Amino acid sequence: MSKLELDDLRTYYRMEEGWIEAADGVSLSLEANETLGLVGESGSGKSTVAKSIIRLLPDNGEIVDGSIRFDGEDITELSKRELRRRIRWKEISMIPQSAMNGFDPVYTVGEQIVQAIRTHESDVSKAEARERTKELFDDLGLDEERVDDYPHQFSGGMAQRAMIALALAVDPSVILADEPTTALDVVIQDRILGTIKEMQDELGTAMVLITHDMSVVSETCDTIAVMYGGRVVERADAETIIKRPKHPYTLGLRNAFPDITADSQELVSIPGSPPDLLEPGEGCRFAPRCPFAEDRCWEETPQPETHGDGHVVECHRADEAEYLRKEANRPETWRTDD
Ligand SMILES: Nc1ncnc2c1ncn2[C@@H]1O[C@H](COP(=O)(O)OP(=O)(O)OP(=O)(O)O)[C@@H](O)[C@H]1O
Ligand SMILES: [Mg+2]
Repeated sequence: MSKLELDDLRTYYRMEEGWIEAADGVSLSLEANETLGLVGESGSGKSTVAKSIIRLLPDNGEIVDGSIRFDGEDITELSKRELRRRIRWKEISMIPQSAMNGFDPVYTVGEQIVQAIRTHESDVSKAEARERTKELFDDLGLDEERVDDYPHQFSGGMAQRAMIALALAVDPSVILADEPTTALDVVIQDRILGTIKEMQDELGTAMVLITHDMSVVSETCDTIAVMYGGRVVERADAETIIKRPKHPYTLGLRNAFPDITADSQELVSIPGSPPDLLEPGEGCRFAPRCPFAEDRCWEETPQPETHGDGHVVECHRADEAEYLRKEANRPETWRTDD
């Protein structure tokens, strides 16, 4: 049994004009100790997936279909209250994308972390919880004395690290880390990812790591899921996604990150803009930007299909991956006339 299993998750946002289909049939699984990288451009639905798991959606957001199983139990069936009591923080913690919003301005950061620890582990004394918090601050490169500061006294990068401390302090079995290191320089970023990794090895914590940064993903993740337009268009072990991807979007992404394709000098990002997710209808959502789109791509939504061990791809042309890969390596393929 997987630690966490999403099956055909659909999370939509209600708007006056209709539904925004932000996560539209997302299936993923996460084992204990595993780090899953969730990548994809802005607006592809990454945060929506994370917020659905821990049920921190805005008021107009709704899980309309599918299931989220934690240790086999469908937690979409739980009331918000039940989920808060049994699952949130205690079992699944989240490092939100904007760390500043994670803290209450009225209390010191240390008080809030101590409180979180003691809420979930009632036998831990205040002094012990404070000690654990200080140790975590130290591991994450924050001055221990900072535990007595208020959130507004923290810079963005410091708040982000304090949020990471909070997420780790409660010893969760799953961490959802939404762009945890974006506000930080590379040295601190490495240190933080190192701290998280150590903790994972020690406690068997699983993590979903959301990021735009493919180099972080390739160094840190065991498996990678690539999102596009509310769907997971490709997932596999990290090496397969990096070396032998099959989906044209993943092929384009690779070209957008020059450090991964060592022989390609030119930085090429994928031309065009993300799809409108307001009731997008049938067809592959990537078709308008895909250099390989055929008639059926516009008409039929490709379904997830397994190509070899755990490699799942949603593309009508995935069987021609070798040809697609060769073509995708040529910068002309991605150039548009306008
Ligand atoms: N409260 C909301 N109401 C309506 N639409 C929303 C809301 N929140 C997000 N969306 C839309 O849902 C889609 C997915 O957003 P989401 O924040 O999950 O993307 P993301 O992949 O996390 O992007 P980023 O990389 O920029 O953080 C986007 O089209 C976004 O505009
Ligand atoms: Mg996001």
